[in-house]
Amino acid sequence: MDRLHGPARLMIVSDLDQTMVDHNDCENLSLLRFNALWEAEYRQDSLLVFSSGRSFISYEHLRDKKPLLSPDITVMSVGTEIAYGESMVPDDDWKQSLDKNWNRDIVLEETSKFPELTPQSEQSQRPHKVSFFLKKDEAEKVIKAVTERLKARGLDAKTIYSGGEALDVLPEGAGKGRALSYLLNKFKVEGKRPNNILVCGDSGNDAELFSVPEVHGVMVSNAMEELLQWREENAKSNSKILLATERGAAGIIQAIGNFGLGSSISPRDRVDLSEFGSKTLHPDHEIVMFYLFYEKWRKAEVEKTEQSLHKLKSLCHSMAIFVHPSGVKRPLKHSIDDVVMLHGDKKGKPFSVWVDQVYSAEIASNTWLVKFYKWELCDEEKYCCLTTVLLSLKTEEPDGLMWLHMHQTWLEGRGTKESSTWLL
Ligand code: GLC
Ligand code: MG
Repeated sequence: MDRLHGPARLMIVSDLDQTMVDHNDCENLSLLRFNALWEAEYRQDSLLVFSSGRSFISYEHLRDKKPLLSPDITVMSVGTEIAYGESMVPDDDWKQSLDKNWNRDIVLEETSKFPELTPQSEQSQRPHKVSFFLKKDEAEKVIKAVTERLKARGLDAKTIYSGGEALDVLPEGAGKGRALSYLLNKFKVEGKRPNNILVCGDSGNDAELFSVPEVHGVMVSNAMEELLQWREENAKSNSKILLATERGAAGIIQAIGNFGLGSSISPRDRVDLSEFGSKTLHPDHEIVMFYLFYEKWRKAEVEKTEQSLHKLKSLCHSMAIFVHPSGVKRPLKHSIDDVVMLHGDKKGKPFSVWVDQVYSAEIASNTWLVKFYKWELCDEEKYCCLTTVLLSLKTEEPDGLMWLHMHQTWLEGRGTKESSTWLL
């Protein structure tokens, strides 16, 4: 992780299902709130880690459906696989370290003696993870017997029960908590141990995360019985672990505020959305605010007032050029005029806009180059463009940020391409 030159200001390590992604929240309201907060306030100097029970393939399926940001590190298959960056470079050292006293064949042989264990799909079985379904009322007895048998065969294996239905058998040294400790140790060696760490979870396989020394933790309000029981037995009086009153990603935002880890006001919670263009905004924040305004404009959730029209029309320099992803070049102000015309065209329809991996660099005095992915989710189709924007500080009155140039490109494998309806 060479992106940061020093320790991360905040490292969030979050489970996905029912934590970052609340499957009851069809409009992804909490997740989109989190995304806007992360990109506006944290992306540049903090680390986002997803730690899930899913395999990479099933993680990709979730990414296809949900507006998930790109994490810096992905920990998959219940802490048995670690990958870095956008291109997900696997950590082979970690994988190798899990081979110690682990033998998959013996695990399969021993577990096959328990008719109560129903193997999960082939896709959920991984080199260091053997997974089953197991009914709640049989769990305690079966887990005890399986553990004894594996020990008798000389294996260092452990079992983790989650969601009142899933049993994972892993090497003793694996699991979400062990994987996090491994990562923290790596950062420590480089002198980059994050200043603050917040772990977030909802079910049994997350429990280990909360035992990692010196971390803050949040159990979302919709946490499962087995995690609540773990808290009761292990962490009831630990003031660094919060049982949120909010579900999913809203619980994560709540914890950031509760522990004073940084700003916990998502741009999506702001009343005045026409803040873009203002001098006080950091360029990252500018991009988030503009696209938030754009979504709300098209959904008619912001009013078409004199003031908001003026805001839009003074966004870009009169000479600013926009290179549309189709390759067509046009004045940026023409695209802004199109936006103005489309006030309310998505009213009452499922339409969300978010930005991912917003990075800005001050390339000259008061001039920034901002790079990000701009996403739209519309009628269950996702569209994405790699975007670069050149911003500068206006010198004339009223001062603020001005858009000088914009360039977008469709990327292979990232969402659908739709030139005729893609605005900017
Ligand atoms: C995810 C995985 C599954 C695992 C469960 C609990 O649902 O897909 O294989 O058993 O998490 O860790
Ligand atoms: Mg979960």
